[in-house]
Amino acid sequence: MAEVIIRGTGHYAPENVVSNFDLSKIVDTSDEWITTRTGIKERRITAGENTSHIACRAAESALKDAGITAEELDLIIVATVTPDNVTPSVSCMLQSMLGARKAAAFDINAACTGFIYGLNLASMFIKGDIYNNILVVGAETLSKIMNWQDRGTCVLFGDGAGAAIVSSSTERGVGSIIIGSDGAKGEVLQCKALPINNPFLKEQSTEEHHSHVIMEGREVFRFATGVMVDSIEEILRRENLTPQDIKFFIPHQANLRIIDYAAKKLEVDISKFVINLERFGNTSSASIPIALDEMNKNGLLSKGDRIIIVGFGGGLTYGAAYLQWQK
Ligand code: COA
Repeated sequence: MAEVIIRGTGHYAPENVVSNFDLSKIVDTSDEWITTRTGIKERRITAGENTSHIACRAAESALKDAGITAEELDLIIVATVTPDNVTPSVSCMLQSMLGARKAAAFDINAACTGFIYGLNLASMFIKGDIYNNILVVGAETLSKIMNWQDRGTCVLFGDGAGAAIVSSSTERGVGSIIIGSDGAKGEVLQCKALPINNPFLKEQSTEEHHSHVIMEGREVFRFATGVMVDSIEEILRRENLTPQDIKFFIPHQANLRIIDYAAKKLEVDISKFVINLERFGNTSSASIPIALDEMNKNGLLSKGDRIIIVGFGGGLTYGAAYLQWQK
């Protein structure tokens, strides 16, 4: 059976930086509130580029880092909750933009856990000897599903994309992966799609439609801290490792307090947790691959480093994966 490695990474975020102070001009908030409750200082907001464009920039960077061409890709998986269209998918748009002639392509929606779900799928395709090179992207333009009048949500999120080339290898780079969901709690973090509407309805709906994120922050907080700790412990158990054996934990970048809570509960020094949310906010499926790429490109990863990535999000969903860096 083939082993699986992350052969290259990339990320891209729109140039437009929106600070907490900028937000305080449009909603009743302050830099002090956002910083102390979340750790976020600024985020990137698109000035017009859609999800496929930022996904493409991240993918190009990952291909370059991996040293392969788009034509060598067998499959493209894009995790996103903010696609350009219902159809064509972002992954099919990418397939065309990159010139990945022989690649199959599909999108998945596991919200902020999307990259881990995508990595899991990619690993299975490789371990099943079906494909050799798979592009996994987490890409979001969350700014388009924000309610810019709701200070409880619009200060938290940002736009961005992260990508990884996942390839077959003789070395073990991707180990245990767990994914899970708790659909019964889905209502605490939601964004509606189009409502039922057709000329044959007995009663036409008068409900006002919107596609904005609505969130019960405290419930999400409770869920996030619980599954983060449980998922990391489960990965450690499966890999027969202790927290001390792990060089870096790369968590989903939602809130510094969530990460801090998990670190304390696991009795791991917070310095082992990779944090960049102060610059990007919560970029949903993009947050983990953006952080991984920053670590890679800044030369902070060495061959053999043991890493755990862990995420949670809408659905509700959660997941974690063990990586051993093999570049
Ligand atoms: N600026 C200023 N005040 C704000 C505010 C903002 N941006 N957002 C909310 N408030 C106010 C509330 O209106 C409330 O005021 P009140 O006490 O007068 O009613 C007060 O701050 C406390 O609100 P609350 O929601 O209880 O704050 P909190 O400590 O739970 O923090 C979150 C809110 C959203 C930061 C926190 O719950 C959280 O991070 N949850 C997880 C969210 C998440 O990560 N979602 C994505 C998952 S992928």
